[in-house]
Amino acid sequence: MAYSEKVIDHYENPRNVGAMDKDDSGVGTGMVGAPACGDVMRLQIKVNEQGIIEDAKFKTYGCGSAIASSSLVTEWVKGKTLDEAMTIKNSHIAEELELPPVKIHCSVLAEDAIKAAVEDYRSKRGAGHSQAEVAA
Ligand code: FES
Ligand code: FES
Repeated sequence: MAYSEKVIDHYENPRNVGAMDKDDSGVGTGMVGAPACGDVMRLQIKVNEQGIIEDAKFKTYGCGSAIASSSLVTEWVKGKTLDEAMTIKNSHIAEELELPPVKIHCSVLAEDAIKAAVEDYRSKRGAGHSQAEVAA
């Protein structure tokens, strides 16, 4: 199967590969697996006090399309609010990367990962911080 140039570019020069401290209260971590192939993706976001995603990192054990999808999503979410990040759809990713039908699930993995990261961040904030702290 032929990969698109954009997939190859992200695969060869992945953006934002790495890890953040998952215990940091400003970090949300999403870890998801694809039942179809067993691939695993971890996507992390660092959120500032204004609720803006300042930084994002990923680590993906998977195919080229999964790596490219997660790399693209880390680029897309920087500077976005959490609500904006939640609107990212796998169809946007698949379209941008020109993924063929058999690789659509790789982009679903990236959508699931960013959603899981936002949810993890929100659940941490809900649990560990008073409103006063959040507002400060
Ligand atoms: Fe998972 Fe492609 S099937 S690496
Ligand atoms: Fe399974 Fe890409 S994530 S083939």
